[in-house]
Amino acid sequence: MRTRPLKVALLGCGVVGSEVARIMTTHADDLAARIGAPVELAGVAVRRPSKVREGIDPALVTTDATALVKRGDIDVVVEVIGGIEPARTLITTAFEHGASVVSANKALLAQDGAALHAAAGQHGKDLYYEAAVAGAIPLIRPLRESLAGDKVNRVLGIVNGTTNFILDKMDSTGAGYQEALDEATALGYAEADPTADVEGFDAAAKAAILAGIAFHTRVRLDDVYREGMTEVTAADFRSATEMGCTIKLLAICERARDGASVTARVHPAMIPLSHPLASVRGAYNAVFVESDAAGQLMFYGPGAGGSPTASAVLGDLVAVCRNRLNGTTGPGESAYADLTVSSMGEVVTRYHISLDVADKPGVLAQVATVFAEHGVSIDTVRQQGKDGEASLVVVTHRASDASLTGTVEALRKLDTVRGVASIMRVEGE
Ligand code: HSE
Repeated sequence: MRTRPLKVALLGCGVVGSEVARIMTTHADDLAARIGAPVELAGVAVRRPSKVREGIDPALVTTDATALVKRGDIDVVVEVIGGIEPARTLITTAFEHGASVVSANKALLAQDGAALHAAAGQHGKDLYYEAAVAGAIPLIRPLRESLAGDKVNRVLGIVNGTTNFILDKMDSTGAGYQEALDEATALGYAEADPTADVEGFDAAAKAAILAGIAFHTRVRLDDVYREGMTEVTAADFRSATEMGCTIKLLAICERARDGASVTARVHPAMIPLSHPLASVRGAYNAVFVESDAAGQLMFYGPGAGGSPTASAVLGDLVAVCRNRLNGTTGPGESAYADLTVSSMGEVVTRYHISLDVADKPGVLAQVATVFAEHGVSIDTVRQQGKDGEASLVVVTHRASDASLTGTVEALRKLDTVRGVASIMRVEGE
């Protein structure tokens, strides 16, 4: 074994960074044996230097992250500060000064992954980011390496623990969205400002990363259709139960049936209780992958938290250090397929639509005609009437999102349709 240690600079020492430092210390011998050389924490960049950080030598702590990545003797920079800047500049500066990078930064990777990969390639360095998607769950490397010989057709996942906790609570207790969110906040699952989670931004960034790797095609954050889950109601869960389904916030990356294009989207959807994703409870994440040769695979585990995320970071650190010792790099960006990323209008799926309508002769025929005129085939209709008004639940066969949108617009114009109570996609069948 080489005795000269590989030097690691840690950018950020919060929930994840402090766990990375702790595991690097407590597992030092194992890590050295697995890598073939010891790893040494050579510097820790933080915002608040006065904070006491157990197990970290205060002499290593600095507020000057730029100077740390420019030192020239750093082998690997571990970036766990998150956000776009200064993380982006620090990562590119690290490459310029000879370091490889391990990052947990989904927002940055989703927005600027191509440029960061290009910078890594230009300098002959590694960029690994297993921790950016679904915490501890191995996904990036299985898609990038283990499935490199297969053809992935679909990635369907629960990649946000906060929203899964809320939806699971609504499902199991009948609570409304706000009540379930309040509980998630009280228990520390939801942040004080939960927007990134509940509006689907966090999941959309992860979908962009997964789709890009799965389909060997650049998928930008802007390519991902996004709907949050704040409008999901207790009534939606009752409808889902009647259908033998539950509701999950899903990230769905799909190859079109003709193979020529792909789509990526995040939205709440009904899935049958028989689907493996339906049984993912609490704040857990799971990703279901469908490929030509392997068939169906499911990856399951904790998608957030200091220790689980640090596990993914450490796995990358070991891989990058091994590459470094061998004078090589791992796989870089693979975007050769360059498939068209289609818009949401071209997505084809089933829909569950709840309408409030007048309960009088001809209304059902009127509504059915609108669906027919837009080429949307109805699978089932269920009506419950009371005092001249009725609630009509229509479940469609597979139709394009554009056709469904046209249908709903036309339905809203009917005098007999008092309102469209909810529209929910039905997935996983
Ligand atoms: N906020 C995310 C979640 C974890 O709730 O899953 C970090 O991506």
